[in-house]
Amino acid sequence: MAVPALVPPRLVFLSGAGLSAESGVPTFRGADGLWEGHRIEEVATPEAFQGHPEFVHRFYNLRRAALKMVEPNAAHRAIVRLEREWPGAFLHITQNVDDLNERAGATRLLHMHGELRKARCLACRVVMRWEDDLEITTSCPSCGGTGTLRPDIVWFGEMPYYIDEILRALETVDVLVCIGTSGVVYPAAGFVRMAEQKGCQKRIEVNLQSTGVDGRFTEQRLGPATQEVPRLVEALLASFTAKPS
Ligand code: APR
Repeated sequence: MAVPALVPPRLVFLSGAGLSAESGVPTFRGADGLWEGHRIEEVATPEAFQGHPEFVHRFYNLRRAALKMVEPNAAHRAIVRLEREWPGAFLHITQNVDDLNERAGATRLLHMHGELRKARCLACRVVMRWEDDLEITTSCPSCGGTGTLRPDIVWFGEMPYYIDEILRALETVDVLVCIGTSGVVYPAAGFVRMAEQKGCQKRIEVNLQSTGVDGRFTEQRLGPATQEVPRLVEALLASFTAKPS
């Protein structure tokens, strides 16, 4: 009897602020929430930047500088291990704007909400790596314009990056893993349902607490990401070591 070839399930990971929390990057909606003291409209909308660019620059300058004080954690490293060892399709979509996944070695990674360590010029549209502070007097190295650079962050009311690639991946995903995201900010909040509608049978949540109250997830692993993600990665890899005899 012919043995059917084993096809590795296609994996998509979606991460949020909880993935980097144990590295010391504050989450958005936790007790130490980043928005504490700031209304979202003050710092995370195009209107805020138009009205008070110095204030918005200062907010992101502090966050960019804080990246120098943090390191990837065991959850970032476990996801990279999976990326390297998984024999099939793998994609990590992150809402995080830190660079901890890359520093752990990630390559199959999409930053749907932009990156703190990048700047974008509103005049020439060039996106460039940016390590230092941005000021309203900073000149664009590409076109020479002054005051035209902004953090390359997707603000409320703006279109997230890589939507076409993400929707394509959700069409065919077999296992969707959501790590450390509260699931309240769209479009990412709708990805689990979208994947389910396209036939994704295994939808796993890793979080300190359950957000899947409406049954979106088929499996929940409740606990800190640094403990739960390495365990999950181990289990996923073990599930695919069985070879046809
Ligand atoms: N391990 C696992 N989960 C954790 C941990 C941890 N150590 N710490 C916190 N969490 C969970 C929280 O329970 C919460 O569900 O991570 C989630 C963080 O939620 P949010 O702060 O809302 O972050 P996120 O879902 O990434 O926010 C989405 O909102 O403001 C925007 O653009 C911003 O990308 C961000 C988007």
